[in-house]
Amino acid sequence: MLKNYPNEMDRNTEAQMKEHVMFGGPWRGPLIVRGKGVYCYDRDEKEYLDLESQAWSLCLGFGNEEVMEAAFEQAEFLYHMKGGLNTYPRLKLVDKILETAPDVFDRVSFEPSGSIANEAAMKIAMINRPEARYFVSLYHAFHGNTLATAAAGWHATKAKGDAYGGGVKYMAFMDNVVRVPNPYCYRCPCGKKEGECRFECADALRTTLQFGVSGPAAAVILEPVQGSGGQIPCPAGYLKRVREICDEFNTLLIFDEMQTGFGRCGTMFAMDLYGVTPDIFTIGKALGNGFPISGTVISRKLKGFQDGNDDNFTFCNNPMAQAAALKTIEILIRDNVPENARRMGEFLTKGLKEIQKKYPIMGDVRGPGLHIGIEMVKDPVTKEPDVVMAGAIYNKALENGLIMGLGGSSPHVIKVKPPLIINEAECASFLERFEKTMKEVTEET
Ligand SMILES: Cc1ncc(COP(=O)(O)O)c(C=O)c1O
Repeated sequence: MLKNYPNEMDRNTEAQMKEHVMFGGPWRGPLIVRGKGVYCYDRDEKEYLDLESQAWSLCLGFGNEEVMEAAFEQAEFLYHMKGGLNTYPRLKLVDKILETAPDVFDRVSFEPSGSIANEAAMKIAMINRPEARYFVSLYHAFHGNTLATAAAGWHATKAKGDAYGGGVKYMAFMDNVVRVPNPYCYRCPCGKKEGECRFECADALRTTLQFGVSGPAAAVILEPVQGSGGQIPCPAGYLKRVREICDEFNTLLIFDEMQTGFGRCGTMFAMDLYGVTPDIFTIGKALGNGFPISGTVISRKLKGFQDGNDDNFTFCNNPMAQAAALKTIEILIRDNVPENARRMGEFLTKGLKEIQKKYPIMGDVRGPGLHIGIEMVKDPVTKEPDVVMAGAIYNKALENGLIMGLGGSSPHVIKVKPPLIINEAECASFLERFEKTMKEVTEET
């Protein structure tokens, strides 16, 4: 195994070569060379505390020895197989995922990315509701970057306020998704104040299913806690109401657990936190602790994929990623990592709320677990989003050795989503550095 990574590219070549990498997202930080636990290091050996788990995937942190060992050991036997030939790691992983999920689920398909897993979920809904032409998603949703999933997310809308997101370029061919208001309690889309809520946003879903779509809808797809759209948790009871509405209209319910699955919210899945079971749920990101693997899990009452090339990808059966995923789930259960996420989430949220008292421009601090968002506002009363301040905090935090997340449709929401193995000392170090960052940025602006 490579122990010392040589610093082998001069800065000019680095800058030149970067121009040739085509990437459809924001560049936000230095060239990273290695990582261990919750820390990673750039080409100058500067240390960063990782608060974004690299697209929320490294649930066990960088360089987990047991996961690496499982993957590399598997690689000695097989590291690539086409979908139609079975392997031990795939069979064992299916067994482990089904053991971890509620008993109503009985089949899993694997896909190479979360977007494709969500498309697979949409395909399953279409197979089971062949007469349907529409899906319903929520405002501020993010379900991926393929054509069908972009049509369900914020980036084909004006969610950012100033301009349409990049997804709108592809909508000429994909427009079978209707969006309904999300349960965004800090900025209630139905204009309700605390204590007044009667789940009017869920009523809007009901009205849409009744009057707003042509024919039946195949499924409602949602993230139980929205991530990219601004770290937006559901209030207790909302998802139960959504479940009832879906049942009333014979519309399937898909939970996109890409970010929430495998411990992030303090329970194995967000559905456990909310006590609501969907018909289909999708997983990825943390599943392989960084190895690329995603999946679609379906209820025993649904028809699955058949041999019509319904869902078959060259890289849908990667034994190395499957072995890594199996080991990741074993560790999550053995070490009760979701419980650590719950406790550390509480610790961090409490600490951030203390800092909020000094800096009320931190308009809202919210979990659950280690799925934390800090909403930056110009004024806590008007709640006007402060994108510039959030960007300044992001950059200053980077100088102070913190890699934070920044919201997608809501770049005024800072995300605090470290690896789930983070300990109290590391959380305390983050809080100290974050407070220093707030002080420096507010003094400079
Ligand atoms: C909730 C959610 N769903 C789907 C996706 C897409 O996953 P992938 O990037 O692996 O295609 C993401 C990625 O950020 C996500 O956050």
